[in-house]
Amino acid sequence: MIRINNVSKTYPNGTEALKNVSLEIKEGEFVAILGLSGAGKSTLLRTINQIIPVSSGHIVFDNVDKKTFKMYGDNPQNTIDKKIAKGEDINIDELDLESIDITKLKGKDLRKMRTQIGMIFQSFNIIKRMSVLQNVLSGRVAYHPTWRTILGIFPEADKQIAYQALKKVDILEKTYGRASELSGGQMQRVAIARSLAQQAKILLADEPVASLDPITTFEVMEFIKKINVEDGITTIANLHHVDLALKYASRIVGVRNGEIVYDILVKSKKQNEIIKDLEKVYGRPISDEDFVGEEE
Ligand SMILES: Nc1ncnc2c1ncn2[C@@H]1O[C@H](COP(=O)(O)OP(=O)(O)OP(=O)(O)O)[C@@H](O)[C@H]1O
Ligand SMILES: [Mg+2]
Repeated sequence: MIRINNVSKTYPNGTEALKNVSLEIKEGEFVAILGLSGAGKSTLLRTINQIIPVSSGHIVFDNVDKKTFKMYGDNPQNTIDKKIAKGEDINIDELDLESIDITKLKGKDLRKMRTQIGMIFQSFNIIKRMSVLQNVLSGRVAYHPTWRTILGIFPEADKQIAYQALKKVDILEKTYGRASELSGGQMQRVAIARSLAQQAKILLADEPVASLDPITTFEVMEFIKKINVEDGITTIANLHHVDLALKYASRIVGVRNGEIVYDILVKSKKQNEIIKDLEKVYGRPISDEDFVGEEE
């Protein structure tokens, strides 16, 4: 679904944050990216939606409709069947599916492509002075002319999408509350709901739980896993904790000095062996600090 091909990133100050990185990610995978601070995890994640432009290389998404830039995943007919089940009127013959290299897109095309990619951060990046509903509706902005969204006018159908998203992360009762009144975990759930309302096919999560206490950490991870499994949203998350990666991810990718040095399907190996392997990724022993530990 995503093909990262020989991607390098050198920042203007000369730092080589990514060196010839290649990685293929399949639809529905939950990839945890692990590595030391400064290894290049955030840079890698942010090149996928081109918030950070690559210096060289390509990032290709397969089965993208040329007109709308919507992604149809590894098995387009499946995606279409799901849409039909939800009442959408859609026919594979009317689509113009092809592989699109996001590094070559600009302006409107890039904006359209980005609607397919949601992003959540450690700092939650929600707009605190707005209501929870407005925050989630902001995920619909790219689907409408700017003047409408500036006036805060969203069609009823969008509001229904937003309510569904809020219900999914179990926060419907906060719909009309101000975002500033939420706890950190609730803010992150609103950010997840916004990606759902955006109808993203891919979720990029840059240390989504790094600002949360252990209990809230597991709660938020559960919701990310839920949308990964139930909605088939391909998820790529930078994580600092080994136990979270082992519990929630289907695949662990290790980054060191701007290179991918480890790549394993979690189910394919014993967890203590993976932990041992990670010592090479980190270049140091794994200790208690690498685990969240507590669980409800
Ligand atoms: N805007 C920038 N300008 C210059 N150098 C940068 C910039 N952003 C990151 N770097 C450098 O690129 C390298 C990779 O940074 P990156 O933020 O991708 O690491 P990371 O693995 O996400 O680290 P952390 O776990 O601390 O978030 C580091 O050496 C960092 O100092
Ligand atoms: Mg980072």
